[in-house]
Amino acid sequence: MHVPESYHGREQAFIKHQLLETYLLRLFMIIGRHQNNIRYVDCFSGPWQEGSDNLQDTSIGIALRIIQNCREGLKKMGRDVKFHTLFIEKDKNSFQKLQDYLASVPQQEISTKTLPGDFFELRESILKWCGPDDFTFFFIDPTGWKNVVEIPTLTPFLKRSNSEFLINFMYDFVLRAHNQELFREDMQAIFGEVPDTEGLTPEEKEEYLLTLYRKRLKEILPASRKKPRAVSVPVLKPTIDRTLYHLVYLTRHPTGIIVFMEASEKLDLVQRRTRAQAKQEKREAQSHQIELFQSADHIHAEKHADPDKVKSYWLNILTTSPHRFGIEELADMLEETGWFESDFQAAFGDLEKEGKVKNLDATGKRRTKFVHYGKSERLIKVMS
Ligand SMILES: C[S@@+](CC[C@H](N)C(=O)[O-])C[C@H]1O[C@@H](n2cnc3c(N)ncnc32)[C@H](O)[C@@H]1O
Repeated sequence: MHVPESYHGREQAFIKHQLLETYLLRLFMIIGRHQNNIRYVDCFSGPWQEGSDNLQDTSIGIALRIIQNCREGLKKMGRDVKFHTLFIEKDKNSFQKLQDYLASVPQQEISTKTLPGDFFELRESILKWCGPDDFTFFFIDPTGWKNVVEIPTLTPFLKRSNSEFLINFMYDFVLRAHNQELFREDMQAIFGEVPDTEGLTPEEKEEYLLTLYRKRLKEILPASRKKPRAVSVPVLKPTIDRTLYHLVYLTRHPTGIIVFMEASEKLDLVQRRTRAQAKQEKREAQSHQIELFQSADHIHAEKHADPDKVKSYWLNILTTSPHRFGIEELADMLEETGWFESDFQAAFGDLEKEGKVKNLDATGKRRTKFVHYGKSERLIKVMS
């Protein structure tokens, strides 16, 4: 897959949009089976850096297209789900473009509403529009971080039940600011404390700061039978090997975590290809020569996690008495490690071959799926 022309120079937006698209499609098809009303709130909608008037490369165009597809798909399953969308935008020009766009493509079957103004100021109106009950997906994709990602700013939304969140967390900024005196108060508001990352490697810092932020978000969600869960995926700078932001996803549904991580895994390869292409273009622009082979064609899916670490993880959680591994357990594992399901499947397959673990409920030939979490199979560690 190559990056469409309209995303050149902002390849990170392509990655973000791919994730949004893949995830929303799966999410709405699942939620729509049980809920009659679904709400979608784009809290910082734009359009922003759009490549064309049809807004197909913006979150606005993408969400409306996906919603329309889901509505039709659900109808075929006998489900008449009502979709309600809300778009918030502060910039006057962008807001006008948003309105012009919505007027030009009348959504007969999807209700659309727009609110001009500042997200922070509009929090109460947004929540009023959502009402207390309908499932609501909040997409929070600002250009900055102030009055957006801090826990007190988000608390009124986090307290709402039946809600999911996708938050663009400006890691690049946080990394630079978190140990500066000037930003102490801001860090306190974002993390509930001033994070101490002294002596940590860059990778450890990223892990530490993201884990802390996800923990804080989860703490605010109201008590319920289902525990809050959060994962995040890094979006890297197109031509430099550094994280620009993390997309943080917050839910109470274990299936949500599994589906989100599946979407992230697909994205992992797309991201590598996209960045290889952007780097190649940068090199070409500098050297004025076209490279013989397209870099993006030479990228193959790599393993996300160190296989030895995943194997040790399995051996640590399994015991010689059987334990059932279902959807909840898989969501726990993904959330705790940030690895993908395929990492766990491959490591379990290797350990089985080595005679170290066993799936007591395994049937038939298995090539890539060694554990069927949907069936809650019983797994054991083999006595050595
Ligand atoms: C990163 S862009 C959104 C991109 C869009 N979500 C997409 O993926 O196509 C952020 C948008 O939020 C708007 N914005 C910035 N600060 C805002 C605020 N405080 N309240 C509402 N909108 C804001 C900007 O004008 C910009 O259009």
